[in-house]
Amino acid sequence: MATAVPPAASRIAVVTGASGGIGAATARRLAEAGYRVVLTARRKDRIEALADELTAAGHSATAYPLDVTDRAAVDEFATAFRTVGVLVNNAGGALGADPVATGDPQDWRTMYETNVIGTLNLTQALLPKLDASGDGTVVVVSSTAGHATYEGGAGYVAAKHGAHVLAETLRLEIVGRPVRVIEVAPGMVKTEEFALTRFGGDAEKAAKVYEGVAEPLTADDVADTITWAVTRPPHVNIDLLVVRPRAQASNSKVHREAR
Ligand SMILES: NC(=O)c1ccc[n+]([C@@H]2O[C@H](COP(=O)([O-])OP(=O)(O)OC[C@H]3O[C@@H](n4cnc5c(N)ncnc54)[C@H](OP(=O)(O)O)[C@@H]3O)[C@@H](O)[C@H]2O)c1
Repeated sequence: MATAVPPAASRIAVVTGASGGIGAATARRLAEAGYRVVLTARRKDRIEALADELTAAGHSATAYPLDVTDRAAVDEFATAFRTVGVLVNNAGGALGADPVATGDPQDWRTMYETNVIGTLNLTQALLPKLDASGDGTVVVVSSTAGHATYEGGAGYVAAKHGAHVLAETLRLEIVGRPVRVIEVAPGMVKTEEFALTRFGGDAEKAAKVYEGVAEPLTADDVADTITWAVTRPPHVNIDLLVVRPRAQASNSKVHREAR
């Protein structure tokens, strides 16, 4: 993808949840597009390894361990920057697939904390720096779960609806300021850990999510989409981009090949 190198003031791109999956792939793509990427996640070893790999390849990358739900730590993190060009709020995920009748309230709380409050924390802390860049972009990685529900998904669906509403409302509130708000809502993406985390490490249950689906999206497919949206000219705001694999027509309508 041929894109112009971003100008100095808006060259820093912060990616949350960069220790694997979509976040790591997005950090790679943004680094290749000329951004100075700042990788954050709780697992220090993983983000440091990726930062080293990107640096060795001639890109600019640093790692900063951060729990997005820890507001004091997020505020401290924000003091490291004068300007930030891009914030990709990607950290998040699902816990459990129980019906409303039996879902664990603690799972619901954790999903809200990570997917919504985590996004709120980073966005609030970095908004002045995004403004100061003169051309800032906030990306919210929501989900198709932020737009329609499915059985067994209510806790995650509620949280991702929250992330969607945050993006929509922020766009209304800051119109006129030099900051875009982009929501990317992926459908089924086969990443190493998403389904494993959802099912508490149960690999068999996790594998069932993708069973018979010829080509679920990859982390890099979503990273490509995010990077495309971010690298449009500053006056072009991709409000919402829904991206699914061809085999998925809705959250619950998925074509699976018989085995
Ligand atoms: N995979 C899918 O099918 C799919 C579909 C639609 C949307 N999404 C969304 O896309 C995003 C990435 O998903 P993925 O598939 O790449 O999942 P993943 O591989 O499980 O990655 C989740 C990332 O979030 C980080 N994270 C979780 N809790 C955190 C916290 N409290 N503080 C900081 N970082 C935290 C994890 O890092 P640490 O554990 O190191 O902190 C990890 O880097 C999520 O928001 C997910 O909901 C995924």
